[in-house]
Amino acid sequence: MKNIVLIGFMGTGKTEVGRILSQRLGYDLLDADSIIEQEQGISITEIFQRHGEPYFRDVEADVIRRLSEKDRVIISTGGGVVLRQENMENLRKKGILVCLTASPETILKRTGNDSSRPLLQVEDPLKKIKELLEFRRPYYERADLMIDTDGKSPLEVAEEIIERIKDSI
Ligand code: S3P
Repeated sequence: MKNIVLIGFMGTGKTEVGRILSQRLGYDLLDADSIIEQEQGISITEIFQRHGEPYFRDVEADVIRRLSEKDRVIISTGGGVVLRQENMENLRKKGILVCLTASPETILKRTGNDSSRPLLQVEDPLKKIKELLEFRRPYYERADLMIDTDGKSPLEVAEEIIERIKDSI
């Protein structure tokens, strides 16, 4: 039984889709960002503010390494997890990498009222989303499976994932 690893940009629905997959398949959901917040005792925003992004990436890599050793779990990751090759190698050992995608406009709509994403607290978030997406696209494309979430509910996305991976888990 392989793990299911959800990767993808902020606002593509990884956590919500992960919750539904967890209920449907009876796998535990391990949300990397929530675990980082629990272990650090502060929010992601505060980690960025107090310690900076490189520190966050080190903590993230450590959590990912530990989560990658589990079995029969859904792992929901933060959008920047793909940036470190080490994370991808760890996650791939026991998992199928499923990347959720969405257009920049959809991402803006889904993240717009949420101040918990430090990277999007800028004057022109749409421009920032487009820049980050452009830079990260080749990293996201290393997933085993890409699922477009535009115009779909989290339930529809979860059902599509189950349909497409049912023979390989
Ligand atoms: C980040 C995405 C966030 C969180 C942090 C950095 C990124 O997770 O890990 O703010 O670099 O894309 P979500 O994708 O769950 O918003």
